Amino acid sequence: MNYANEESQGNPANKISISTSILSADLSRIGSVLESLESSGADSVHIDVMDGHFVNNIAFGPAFVKSMRRHTALPFKVHLMIEKPAAYAPQFISAGSDLLIFHRETVSDVAGTIDQIESHGAKAGIALNPETQISEAAEFIPRISSLLIMGVNPGFAGQKFIPTVLPKITEARRLISEKGLRTGVAVDGGINSATARDAIRSGADELIAATYVFGSENIADAISSLRNS
Ligand code: DX5
Ligand code: ZN
Repeated sequence: MNYANEESQGNPANKISISTSILSADLSRIGSVLESLESSGADSVHIDVMDGHFVNNIAFGPAFVKSMRRHTALPFKVHLMIEKPAAYAPQFISAGSDLLIFHRETVSDVAGTIDQIESHGAKAGIALNPETQISEAAEFIPRISSLLIMGVNPGFAGQKFIPTVLPKITEARRLISEKGLRTGVAVDGGINSATARDAIRSGADELIAATYVFGSENIADAISSLRNS
């Protein structure tokens, strides 16, 4: 991968990055799942954290992240679907998270939350629910590594992609390009080979997928079909 070349072209969307969400993996054998993701060409592991308050489901604490860390060198991108993300950031970072993505809807002090994440040594990202507009995050885009646009309402894997989020992807990409920033535009929820193509065409450079990858016969083929959608 040639980062210098990517930068000189000013086109961060050159390479499509695939982040596999373990929410629908066989968790009884998570060690070998992580090893097979690495050998199948995944670029990172997406870990969904849910508190039963912000979303109607509960998933994955820092101890689980720490135990997963032993099985792969892939970057861990931790999607915090929780209230008070800043309070839990240190635990998730010391467990081995590389990027913490918090929801704009859960936070009033966005800058302070980014500061907290960075001061503990991780990168920060912001996630937006399908109904939340890009304008809610626009001023913080220069400070974050990833803007995550939800393609479904957060809480569960296996939902259908909501196509009205596509113009938000385009708007985010335009803002980022106009400002000459390198912030990534990730899309999470309802991604399959068809919706991946729509998301990429709209300006996404990272696709997050659980059901499409873990429901397929061959993980490597599923990952490459998303990347080449
Ligand atoms: C949804 C999670 C997603 C989910 C994606 O709340 O944030 O990351 O795991 O699952 P699929 O790809 O099945 O829509
Ligand atoms: Zn997620």
